[in-house]
Parts: sequence; structure tokens; C-alpha cells
Amino acid sequence: MKKHDLFDRGSEFLGSRYPIICGAMTWISDSVLVSSVCNAGGFGCLASGNAPADILSREITRTRELTSNPFGVNVITVSPAYRSHLDVLCANPVPVVIFAGSIPKEQDVQRIKSSGSRVMCFAPTRAMASRLVRFGVDGLILEGTEAGGHIGPVSLTVLLQEILFDDHPVPIFVGGGLALGSFCAHLLMMGAAGVQLGTRFAVSRESCAHPDFKAAFLKAEARDAISTSQFDARIPVIPVRTLRNRGTADFGRLQLELIGQLNRGEITRTDGQMRLEEFWLGGLRRAVQEGDVDYGSMMAGQSVGLVKSNQSVEEIIQELVRDMDAEIERVRSRLK
Ligand SMILES: Cc1cc2nc3c(=O)[nH]c(=O)nc-3n(C[C@H](O)[C@H](O)[C@H](O)COP(=O)(O)O)c2cc1C
Repeated sequence: MKKHDLFDRGSEFLGSRYPIICGAMTWISDSVLVSSVCNAGGFGCLASGNAPADILSREITRTRELTSNPFGVNVITVSPAYRSHLDVLCANPVPVVIFAGSIPKEQDVQRIKSSGSRVMCFAPTRAMASRLVRFGVDGLILEGTEAGGHIGPVSLTVLLQEILFDDHPVPIFVGGGLALGSFCAHLLMMGAAGVQLGTRFAVSRESCAHPDFKAAFLKAEARDAISTSQFDARIPVIPVRTLRNRGTADFGRLQLELIGQLNRGEITRTDGQMRLEEFWLGGLRRAVQEGDVDYGSMMAGQSVGLVKSNQSVEEIIQELVRDMDAEIERVRSRLK
């Protein structure tokens, strides 16, 4: 497959043939999926989630056995296992570490960098993008609210206008709601170094997700991937985009129950917030591993409505690249 010059900046940064990142997905992005993405020319990221440190170490070793190409590890700053994940990554550096969850501390960024890894972070606003660059972050990801999993509040259209067109010293990757190469091509033409997709890879043949999980994704429309609401500012909710099911209704009921308990002085705000986060962690495992599509957390981007077939990772990447190339050539010929 032809490799386009618009791919160069992102590919060189990632060390992959194509500037296509398969975003980390907790319970899904294991050594098999990550190495398949890397071997097909993309850039895969292991999800640390809340895994015990020894499992993360094992997955890093297995990924290295399955691919000789570079890959990333995603760490979640708000995970109880976060600090142990940083220890693993300092002892056993990987090419790229991606911080997710909240804005990382500067010393954590520096600690990972001094162990030899490059660092990427999600930039939710222009001010934060500049701050992260000052912290020493090597690459940024702009992710629109269309994305699956824990999300920010701003649409990709607005985030792009707020951040992408500024003159940044680091490459910017863009994700959230992406499924088609033709659209990804336009992001590269706007100045993105590359793209990040999750949902489309979650249903790939190499994804370990339960067949019922994948079948529900293939059936779903964009409007089925809803974002959760926060009922009371005293118990903050990081919004999650997930397929609407009985579990999303349960999440609403759990919030009401916790607000009642908080009013009666039975729990603290932190207890409440932790119970809500546990809901998603346990729910995602049930959905992905057990195929509990009714009550589990079916985290999906709005891109789910554009994903209609269970392809291999190689087919997904080749199709993305082919459609990106065709779109770039189409635009080029229109501009002549
Ligand atoms: C099931 C699922 C789990 C996810 N888990 C994580 C995670 O652990 N860490 C993270 O940074 N992003 C996570 N994400 C977000 C993806 O990495 C990616 O940025 C997102 O899926 C892109 O949007 P899309 O789904 O529309 O392609 C998750 C997404 C999904 C669908």
C-alpha cells in the first residue's frame, strides 16, 4: 500500500508505518490486539486500566514477543494502581506512555521521560495544551466528546478549532467518533499528525471482547452511544459514553441512591465518587468478558454507527489507509 507524505510526521513520531493509533481500551487492549495493530502498520497501546502491576508487566513482555514494532502503554492517573503502573514503566520503559484520566503531574511526566519513554497526553483545552507542552509532553491527543469510554465535554469540531490550528511544537493526534479513512484524510490535511480510533478496533477479529459485545456494537446506531449525566455536583461524574442499556439506567439510580446517602451523612463525597467509578470498571469487565450486554458497560463512541463489519485489524488498517489516500488524491485533483 502506498504511503502518503501527509503520514510522515505522525509515522515518524510513533515509529509506525501509518499514523493510526488504536486507542487503549481497558479489558480489550491486550498484547494480542496491540501487537496485531503494530504488525499491521498502526500503533497499538496497551490499557493498564486498574490491572495489578504484574499483569501489566506480563502484557508488556508478551507484546514484545509478538511484535518488534513500537507500541504504547496507557496509564490512568485516577486508577488506584496508577503509581504501581508508573513503577513498572520506569523499570521497563516502552516507546510511548499515554497519560489519561486527569492532567498528570509534571514530575510524573518528567519521571517517565527520564526513563527513556516519550509521553503523550489528552489536551482538553488550549490552555491545557500549552501547559502540557511546558511539562515536556512530546505529543498531544485531541479527543472529542463523540469518543467511547470516559470523555470530555467538548465536540471534536470545536476542539479542533480551539487547538489544532495553533502553532504547536509537538505533533497533534485527533480522535473521537472516527471510523472512515476519507474523514481521517481531512484531519491530516487540516494539520493533524495522525488519528486515534477505538470503537472500530474493539470489534476487530483480534479483539478479545465477547462475541455478544461485538454483535451489539455491529447492530448499534450512533444515537445509541449516549453520554451519562451528573445529577449532583457534590458527587462529580466523569461522563462516560456507552451504549444505552439497563446498566445505564442503573447508573442513574445508583447516583440518586448515593445522593440520598450523602444527604443523610452515611457516606462522604469521595466514597460516592469511588462507588460510581467502581460501577464502570466492574461493568466494563462484565460487558467485555462475559458479554453482559444488558447490564454491563458497553463503552462505545458514536462512531459505532459507522462500524458494520467484523474485520481483521489488518483489513481495518488497509481500508483506512486506502480511503485516506483516495480522499487526499480526490481533494488534490479538485484543487488543480
Ligand atoms: C471499551 C472502551 C474502553 C476504553 N478504555 C480507555 C482507557 O482505558 N484509556 C483511555 O485513555 N481511553 C480509553 N478509551 C478511549 C479510546 O482509547 C479511544 O480514544 C476512543 O475509543 C476513540 O473514540 P472512538 O471510540 O469513537 O473511536 C476506551 C474506549 C472504549 C470504546
